[in-house]
Amino acid sequence: MIRPIVLWPDPILSQICAPIEQIDAPVQQLATDMLETMYDAPGRGLAAPQVGVLLRMFVMDTAWKDGDRTPTVVINPNITDRSDQSVIGPEGCLSIPGVTADVTRAAEITMQWTGLDGSLFVERLTGFTAICAQHEFDHLEGRVTFDRLTSDVRSILQAEYLA
Ligand code: NI
Repeated sequence: MIRPIVLWPDPILSQICAPIEQIDAPVQQLATDMLETMYDAPGRGLAAPQVGVLLRMFVMDTAWKDGDRTPTVVINPNITDRSDQSVIGPEGCLSIPGVTADVTRAAEITMQWTGLDGSLFVERLTGFTAICAQHEFDHLEGRVTFDRLTSDVRSILQAEYLA
């Protein structure tokens, strides 16, 4: 089921999300719905607060627009390492339609998370996948792209968005 996407500046997007204690049927349904919503949007990443659920889960599929769908469901992620090297690139967000912001991110990260089947993952993420994961992780901490900008740039982009 496609769920409505929460739009900035809804205060839901500023909340810190709670860990998922148990991967039960509602959590599995949420993951299914989030993937359906992400592909429909269309987007390459979607975090639970963006559909109004304050739990630590996001979905991503960074390559599906170029080929087959390879969805990843990320539960209770933890970024355990960020490379010293950073990259700046344009990022959109399904909760801030029409706005593209240049955000600085670590070029590579190590992330650990739990999959939908309960198994543990630890992976070094690079390239666009690293960027996407950091963007979605931010959502779980109540941060959007605006929160990663200088106040000058933020003011300009927010004014454009709200106009
Ligand atoms: Ni986003």
